[in-house]
Amino acid sequence: MKILAIESSCDDTAAAIVEDGRVALSSVAASQIEEHRLYGGVVPEIASRRHCETICQLVDESLERASLTLKQIDAIAVTYAPGLIGALLVGVNYAKGLAFATQKPLIPVHHLRSHIAANYLAHPQLSPPFLALVISGGHSHIVLADDYTHFTVIGRTRDDAVGEAFDKAARAMGFPYPGGRYLDQAAQQGNPSAFSLPHPQIADAPLDFSFSGLKTAVLNQLHNASQREEAVNIDDLSASFQKTVCDLIEERLFAATAYTGQNKIVVAGGVSANSGIRKRLQDKASQKGCSLYLPPLSLCGDNAAMVGSQAYYEYQAGVRAKASLNAVASLSIGDTVCE
Ligand code: KG4
Ligand code: ZN
Repeated sequence: MKILAIESSCDDTAAAIVEDGRVALSSVAASQIEEHRLYGGVVPEIASRRHCETICQLVDESLERASLTLKQIDAIAVTYAPGLIGALLVGVNYAKGLAFATQKPLIPVHHLRSHIAANYLAHPQLSPPFLALVISGGHSHIVLADDYTHFTVIGRTRDDAVGEAFDKAARAMGFPYPGGRYLDQAAQQGNPSAFSLPHPQIADAPLDFSFSGLKTAVLNQLHNASQREEAVNIDDLSASFQKTVCDLIEERLFAATAYTGQNKIVVAGGVSANSGIRKRLQDKASQKGCSLYLPPLSLCGDNAAMVGSQAYYEYQAGVRAKASLNAVASLSIGDTVCE
């Protein structure tokens, strides 16, 4: 089954053709990051406009690169939640129009489910059940995936998402937006013990995260040093921040394996590109005898191939969008509005 998938939940417009949930026949994207960088973050109105301008061309390109015509496509899939509402609406309305015009089924896909599915493209043997760590710019969750389409959130952030904490700390350190990957690069040169940063715990919720105190501690270090007119070693501060994030993630993720008895772990989302987190989780998983699945770097960030992969399993489970499908800005990974 060949699915044409569309992603426009944030600042990447993307289209892909995926066969049977596991093979990307093509995957193309247009990043808007250079434009948003001028403003230090994603400007929703600009994102929507750029999606409108590029979506038709990207869909054509995805078909061309797969050497397929629309007639050879079996279904259309689109990210409908969660994300920037105006940005999502561009993809949803385009996909609805295309599905109606071609009389093909339309499959609505949850963005975080698709981040998890990126791993199906890279690891042919991977199947649920497993424990998923979803770490992106907007979300930080520990999720039990019982099946390809059934998810239970067992841990979540109480404040900032991990990617947001990376980007805010990186911005304060002077890195361009989005700063997560620059902070990661700097951390590789620094001393992770140079700064002692807080390890926030949530009372009675050992699987929940809190990152805003850690981010504030970084801002305070920079602020205090600037008041004393002292220079801060940014490599050391980056390494100390990244080590603390690794500690917080490792503690909760492995507490979750003990709590659920599930030793298969899948990591997903943009922050799964972080070199420190990848290494720490690989080391700990092999020490604990857990099997760990990481997406390749090319599939960590937003892309449409992961949407096409998840869509296949949603389709198998009978999920179809009606013509009334709407975009939803905020929706738990366990929920669906399309039954
Ligand atoms: O999943 P994603 O592409 O978009 C959302 O759905 O949010 O994640 C983007 C996030 C940004 O916060 C970005 O800074 C972060 O992933 N990120 C990283 C790295 N690469 C991307 N954070 C830390 N280290 C990295 N290497
Ligand atoms: Zn994402």
